[in-house]
Amino acid sequence: MHNRIRRRNAVATTLLSMAISASLVFAAVPMASANDDGNPHRKPASSHTEPAATMVTARNDRVARLLASMSLEDKVGQMMQPDTRHITPQQAAEYHIGSILSGGGAAPESGNSASDWANRADSYQHAVINETGIPLLYGVDAVHGHNNVADATLFPHNVNLGQTGNAELVKQIGAITASEVRATGSNWVFTPTLGLPKNERWGRTYEAYGENADLSAKLGAAYIEGSQAGESGSGLAGSDSAIATAKHFIGEGITKDGVNQGDVPLDYNSEAFRKILDSELLVPYRAAVQDANVRSVMVSYNSIGGVKCHGNADLLTNVLKRGLGFTGIVITDYNGIDQIEGNLNYAQKVAKAVNAGVDMLMVDEHEGTQPKWIAARQAVIDGVNSGDIAMARVDDAVTRILNVKDEMGLLENPQLAYSNKELLAQFGGEAHRAVAREAVAQSLTLLKNRSTDDGSTLMNDLPSMKRIVVAGSSANDIGMQSGGWTITWQGSAGDITSGTTIYEGLKTAGKENGQTVDLKEDGSFTGNYDAAIVVAGESPYAEYAGDRTADQLTLQQKDINTISSIRKTHPNLPIVLVLTTGRALTITDQLKQVDAVVMAGFPGSEGEGVADVLLSADRDFSGHLTTTWPKDANNIAKKYIDPNTVLFPYGTGLVKSQVN
Ligand code: GLC
Repeated sequence: MHNRIRRRNAVATTLLSMAISASLVFAAVPMASANDDGNPHRKPASSHTEPAATMVTARNDRVARLLASMSLEDKVGQMMQPDTRHITPQQAAEYHIGSILSGGGAAPESGNSASDWANRADSYQHAVINETGIPLLYGVDAVHGHNNVADATLFPHNVNLGQTGNAELVKQIGAITASEVRATGSNWVFTPTLGLPKNERWGRTYEAYGENADLSAKLGAAYIEGSQAGESGSGLAGSDSAIATAKHFIGEGITKDGVNQGDVPLDYNSEAFRKILDSELLVPYRAAVQDANVRSVMVSYNSIGGVKCHGNADLLTNVLKRGLGFTGIVITDYNGIDQIEGNLNYAQKVAKAVNAGVDMLMVDEHEGTQPKWIAARQAVIDGVNSGDIAMARVDDAVTRILNVKDEMGLLENPQLAYSNKELLAQFGGEAHRAVAREAVAQSLTLLKNRSTDDGSTLMNDLPSMKRIVVAGSSANDIGMQSGGWTITWQGSAGDITSGTTIYEGLKTAGKENGQTVDLKEDGSFTGNYDAAIVVAGESPYAEYAGDRTADQLTLQQKDINTISSIRKTHPNLPIVLVLTTGRALTITDQLKQVDAVVMAGFPGSEGEGVADVLLSADRDFSGHLTTTWPKDANNIAKKYIDPNTVLFPYGTGLVKSQVN
């Protein structure tokens, strides 16, 4: 037992009885609230006293004793989540930090292998455990596998998983991702995204499962269960699980014009918003909290009727904590506090967020000349000392954090917090990649197919065609097929990690079928072929970098040119267009030039999964669209009103024998 903890335990006994009696006294006092009628959606709480019903209690004596022994500074340290780019292991120990994150692309200086990540994580844990005895929660954006790390298994993005509709598969993916995350010493994944994208101008459409609340609820809960159970199924206290994050709470997919971090153009207290909130937006979160017991919820950057979620007490305390009964950690998004509206300085914004119900502050970069986490930490300490933040609010936040750490076994056995080196052997291994490959195959969605002269169809005949040429800017590029959040925050084209490209998979499958499969990205091929497969889509992007105007929602010009060129030089050659895109694009012109269309989303590292369906006589398509695909992105606003503006309805998905 560490010296510091031993001293604490001696002191804690008396403090514990004082703390317990104080909380009883606190709980006995009726909470100040204008109209506490039990309706979870009453107007934003005016005072910062938290309704007792939303406060959690220590899950056992271990947590209670620890809390009672902590100073204000110790407690506030637990509420901070700086990025490894702006805090050293020594600082994390000195300031009793409770959590760290490594944001998109924050690879260790030593290199980007799983071992590099594990060594860095262990250096932070060693420093902090030695000083405080309380291990760190270490968060990463493992949104399609442990995607920051080289040679990790990269699963298809959530848009693909939505198209599979397969909860068991998604649960397995959550478990495998947790295993690869724990191998590197992280233990918290900032996923799944539960937004319901209704406007594909939004750059994060592909991070969600789709527009339907029930589908998002089913798959989100499955992912969370898988992640928090771990591959061994041991549960949160196991050594291969990771706490999951239901994000971003709430309304991100219905902002005006799909603007990321934008505004939902409805009054927060209006009947219209409450209806959408209850009937759609909350549905996936209710499943995440009440069915899957998600241990963290990340607040959304967007505002609702001009009120930023990060400062909305009714939303975070009454709707989430009280209404859904959420007992885990509410974490801000990355510097999300900065966006809280009003003429407030940083300390006032921090106080507003904590009073609104934020428990953990994800804070990075700088506030003035000092790291933001130092300013945020001081703001909470000063807020409590000035009375702007109730001590009970801090105690509730820290109790939530300590409860989760205890559920993970980290308080009883801090050694669990270190990287699980045994799991490194499966990191990016064949077994994991096989599951990713299966997910790719199941996600493929056939949108267009045509009949052939012999009474068959193009997609039925493709596996027996002798000579196939493959073109398109995404045909042979693992970076392009993986999308954003891959090695770096934005992702990038190129040979950026290990796996198989879509072309490599087609060539290998073709060889086994006795087919010749050649590559000519720009489509300038000569010679006779039986069919062309053009793999085209979007270049990688993440978050607001993916926001588009309606006119920009098209294929890249070079791919448009490739399709036109092939059609012009080979007027009768069957063309199969495989789309590697995170969302519906305006493809009306290309639709006239091609004979079949497959929505392949962003497949990730196992591109060979595409060939498993396209060039197999034994395997059919099983995917279905999870958004409503407009004929023209300029009509997005009408796609739910006027069916004539819809190219492919929600749920579209042909099998090879079907034509349209
Ligand atoms: C980003 C994203 C969020 C992510 C966080 C940490 O801005 O909005 O989804 O988990 O920051 O990288």
